Parts: sequence; structure tokens; C-alpha cells
Amino acid sequence: MYICVCKGVTDSAIREAVNNGAERMRDLKSCLGVTEQCGVCACHAKEVLEQARRQKTQTHASAPETACEPSRVLCVKQLPEETNDEREYRNYSMAESSTAA
Ligand code: FES
Repeated sequence: MYICVCKGVTDSAIREAVNNGAERMRDLKSCLGVTEQCGVCACHAKEVLEQARRQKTQTHASAPETACEPSRVLCVKQLPEETNDEREYRNYSMAESSTAA
């Protein structure tokens, strides 16, 4: 299903990005272009991102140690460091979404 119509980004592409290391909306913006134009996709993209992150965490928690591929990288771009505000917002969002479930 298309999440970002402007950039033609699907939920599958977001899940793949998360499996390759995307953790934040800025990662999706940097690598896939999500929210770069009209921004209407932001809320839905965030939902898919958080859902994919939870699935990834559960998969890694139950998978044998050898299933991890630490050498995989998000993309060729070097991402900027996360600021304290972004880190706090991400932690707050994760806590909110885990209590809502
Ligand atoms: S729908 Fe994603 S930027 Fe417009």
C-alpha cells in the first residue's frame, strides 16, 4: 500500500528500510523521501515505522544470534546525529505507542 503518494513510497519500502537500520522519521525522509513534499503522509509513515520497529525487535529477540546481520547499513548517505530533543521525542513516542497497545 502506498504511504507517501508524492514519492511513491509503500509500507513495504518502509519496513525494508527499518530492517536495514532506519529508526526515525528523519531516516525515512533521508533515504526514501517520505514527507519531503506535501507532508500528508507523516502520521501514517510514523505508524508503519513504529510497527516495523516493534516487529523487528520481536524478531531479533526470538531469533538465534546468527540471524542478525550487523554489517547491513541503512543507505549510502551518512545520517546526521540525532539531537537530544529528537531522542526524547522518539523515546516518548515509543513509550506512548507501547502503552496504547
Ligand atoms: S504524500 Fe508524502 S510528501 Fe506528499
